[in-house]
Amino acid sequence: MAIETIIWEKNSIKIIDQSQLPLKLEYLYLKEIDQVREAITSLKIRGAPALGIAAALGIVVGIQSSSAQNWPDFREELQKTVNFLRSSRPTAVNLFWALERMIRRAEENNERPIPEIKRILQEEALKILEEDKICNRRIGQKGAALISDGDTVLTHCNAGALATADYGTALGILYRAKEEKKKIRVYVDETRPLLQGARLTAWELLQEGFKVTLICDHMAGAVMQEGKIDKILVGADRVAANGDTANKIGTYTLAVLAREHHIPFYVACPFSTVDLSIPGGEKISLEKRSPDEITQINGKRIAPKGVEVYNPAFDITPAKYITAIITEKGIHRPPFIKTLRGKEGK
Ligand code: MRU
Repeated sequence: MAIETIIWEKNSIKIIDQSQLPLKLEYLYLKEIDQVREAITSLKIRGAPALGIAAALGIVVGIQSSSAQNWPDFREELQKTVNFLRSSRPTAVNLFWALERMIRRAEENNERPIPEIKRILQEEALKILEEDKICNRRIGQKGAALISDGDTVLTHCNAGALATADYGTALGILYRAKEEKKKIRVYVDETRPLLQGARLTAWELLQEGFKVTLICDHMAGAVMQEGKIDKILVGADRVAANGDTANKIGTYTLAVLAREHHIPFYVACPFSTVDLSIPGGEKISLEKRSPDEITQINGKRIAPKGVEVYNPAFDITPAKYITAIITEKGIHRPPFIKTLRGKEGK
């Protein structure tokens, strides 16, 4: 794929600044830990798997300049860097998963000289990036079996190359189906308030030659009622052990509407998004974001001063509305409490 969402280049993290798309395709080089955290909180880099990769590479950037000469001092600095990144965004478990993996790798090697631990951590972060590419291809291959020639698929937010190392999860399935010569049309929700659907998914799918139709979020019900949608396919930020799924705000609405209209509702994600330590969705921390995202459009105020705003960035789709969860391990069907723990999806 032509899109390079996040790569390691010139001792820094090179990312596409997604806050500028689709008007400008601009790359940023993140050399300082503060820049990495800012890029995450302002959604210059976003999407659960990409956040995991950014966090892992963020550790590399953060400890690059460490002058620690021994393991206890280095461990302390590492922990500070981890804590700083942990506090950036709360919902996507991949971010925490990647940070834990980086700490574990350092601890396993704590008897080695500090420059060597730094090198090992860089290797680990790049491994997380490369594994994500492989993982997405596998998700695509497993999930494409659910897509038929001629299908019209509705998606929400952006679970594509821009949300991962490349290829994407939900969109990866569509890429694979297209590679298999299936003709697919995609309806894209604009995804208020930050418009990841309109700005990112529509752009990404058009680059890859898809037929794309953009709708406002609240049109989804009518479009389903008109019989235009065969399947719904979304990504995930965190999946609890029982299959309850946190994803971009508006996903729950789609899932309920899908049930009413007898439309299969699929979630695609890497297994690193499945958090088996959380029994159900009520335990998932859901990010609340700035009121400005709703009261302003392109920096221009559109709502009256003094109005109260509620701006949750994610919602929970209860497992009962989900037809299947597709990971690199397979297609997991209900009861998810069993099939997510199995070696292969059922
Ligand atoms: O706030 P965002 O843009 O980071 O939200 C992203 C999503 O909700 C995606 O659907 C999810 O992270 C899956 S990405 C493969």
